[in-house]
Amino acid sequence: MAVEKTVTVLGSTGSVGTQTVELLQANPDRYRVVALVAGRNARLLAQQARALCAERAVVADPVAYPELRDALAGTGIEAACGPDAVVAAASLPAEWTMCAITGAAGLASTLAAIKHGKSVALANKEALVCAGEVMLRAVAAHGATLLPVDSEHNAIFQALADGNRASVDKIILTASGGPFRTASHAEMAAALPEAALRHPVWSMGAKISIDSATMMNKGLEVIEAARLFDLPSARIGVLIHPQSVVHGLVYYEDGSVLAQLGSPDMRVPIAHCLAWPRRIATNAPRLDLAAIGRLEFSEPDLDRFPALRLARDALQAGGGAPTILSAANEVAVAAFLERRLGFLDIAAVVADVLAAMGPTEADDLAAVLARDAEARRLSSIMCVKRLAKAA
Ligand SMILES: NC(=O)c1ccc[n+]([C@@H]2O[C@H](COP(=O)([O-])OP(=O)(O)OC[C@H]3O[C@@H](n4cnc5c(N)ncnc54)[C@H](OP(=O)(O)O)[C@@H]3O)[C@@H](O)[C@H]2O)c1
Repeated sequence: MAVEKTVTVLGSTGSVGTQTVELLQANPDRYRVVALVAGRNARLLAQQARALCAERAVVADPVAYPELRDALAGTGIEAACGPDAVVAAASLPAEWTMCAITGAAGLASTLAAIKHGKSVALANKEALVCAGEVMLRAVAAHGATLLPVDSEHNAIFQALADGNRASVDKIILTASGGPFRTASHAEMAAALPEAALRHPVWSMGAKISIDSATMMNKGLEVIEAARLFDLPSARIGVLIHPQSVVHGLVYYEDGSVLAQLGSPDMRVPIAHCLAWPRRIATNAPRLDLAAIGRLEFSEPDLDRFPALRLARDALQAGGGAPTILSAANEVAVAAFLERRLGFLDIAAVVADVLAAMGPTEADDLAAVLARDAEARRLSSIMCVKRLAKAA
């Protein structure tokens, strides 16, 4: 079989990245791997690069480089390190790039991949939230195709495939509700990272797991959907759906509702993006609706999950507000994971930073990076203040 696509995976050692690598390993004749990129996990990266016969493997953290270089010695696979090498790897010609680095750290490499004008599978929602206009302008200028990896956006992408975009009334993103779906305010106030990381449905990286617990993840996804599908906040609904098998729904003006269903398994949307516009087989469990029996849906509780409201407000405010929201949240989540902040303080810090920075613009990359840096600085200060207050 002739190779169908050359591919690069940014963030190959993470949750999305390893599932992408698994699909590539299962289809060695279809895909040829150009580059794999990780943060610092040199051991796993080297294993992946050898297994997939990648041309290049890159770690962002120079401290991890000697281990990577030694593990790849004699293989012919090029090893490199540092943030510039990450962007250089994303700039190598590949027909399909998975962008699965977490947070704004993935922005520069995602932009570099977009500049090929080929297919970009976007898992890194924070890049699109923090630099939406910049990214969408680059997509248009270079003729790239953004393929949504997030299961909800992938579902909407599939449900929009009949091409009648002008006839869409609204879309719905579903949310599992996370580990605190039924928790009291007091339980949430006392929650430790171990409990917040224990997602009832999805097994994911630490940052997105905490975002799911606060429902900031769904807020980021509302902004992501607004950018991807060019819809205002009012036409993007969110429903809590604990079974997580209906991932997204599109309501059309004739009363039809198209939904995409599947077992909650990221290999399904990743495979959809990888093979698009075709399909490939996965080992994901087949959906057994009779065994599930009941599908439940309810409105989210914005009092217990204020992050969702904050994200909608930031989308509405526009300018630099989504950049600030995402950057402040990254810092607050890191502080919570390091036990320097309470669970409910995450959204409170984000709200404080948004209020302190007020209306701002972020219409080019320099402005985005400036808003991002200032929001991180303020968020660090607010985290310290909240810790001092709690002591
Ligand atoms: N996990 C999911 O099911 C899921 C679903 C939908 C969307 N997403 C989105 O996909 C993205 C990745 O999520 P994840 O759960 O896969 O995260 P993760 O497990 O934490 O993996 C993050 C990946 O990025 C790498 N990385 C971190 N910092 C880096 C840097 N500065 N430069 C280069 N690489 C860096 C990590 O390398 P090391 O391993 O070496 O640290 C790892 O390979 C996030 O934006 C998330 O919101 C995830």
